[in-house]
Amino acid sequence: MKNSNNSILIKTDRFLLKSLRVKNVKKDYINWIRYENKRFIEYNPPKLNIKILKKYVSKKINKKNCIFLGIFTRNKKHIGNLKFEPINFKSKYAVMGILIGDKKWKGKGAGFEVLKSSFNYLYLNYKITKIYLGVEKKNLAAIGLYKKLGFKMLKNNKIYRYSMYLKLKN
Ligand SMILES: CC(C)(COP(=O)(O)OP(=O)(O)OC[C@H]1O[C@@H](n2cnc3c(N)ncnc32)[C@H](O)[C@@H]1OP(=O)(O)O)[C@@H](O)C(=O)NCCC(=O)NCCS
Repeated sequence: MKNSNNSILIKTDRFLLKSLRVKNVKKDYINWIRYENKRFIEYNPPKLNIKILKKYVSKKINKKNCIFLGIFTRNKKHIGNLKFEPINFKSKYAVMGILIGDKKWKGKGAGFEVLKSSFNYLYLNYKITKIYLGVEKKNLAAIGLYKKLGFKMLKNNKIYRYSMYLKLKN
């Protein structure tokens, strides 16, 4: 099981995925959320400021069933986040969310690259074999990314959202 003091580092071709820290909460991160809340992410507090976001990150990173990773370029620029929560270490599945916040990095294969590597990490380290997520039907970029990764639609009757899952290994 994940230890709350765990420090994860995953290297991909272009990025470093590192356990998110409270010190990574800066203006840029606030701006990503402000922008995306008009669109597609779930975290949507009524008033958002550095203090509130730091508290949110602190709470998440201390949870045993949550792996929260910052996505950094090789020259240390924080461009987004990846969250697996909850992770069920016993039943071997995780629920995920991703945010490529930095506009310059959208549509450049970052999402695909970091998800591929992080799924591999979860499989190798925790034998996680299934990933689940929810996505708004209008979020065509995310749906395209998930389909490219091999996610399938789950049957459900939500009006605005799809549920999807990916089997990592047979
Ligand atoms: C959705 C998101 C994660 C995609 O990440 P990304 O790094 O931009 O995506 P990638 O460049 O890796 O693209 C992978 C595939 O996704 C699809 N895709 C990406 N952007 C797309 C767009 N604007 N329109 C349609 N399909 C798109 C394509 O199929 C693409 O494959 P291709 O390049 O071979 O055509 C990113 O845009 C994001 O963080 N958006 C805001 C937050 C969000 O919506 N999170 C998901 C909530 S469920």
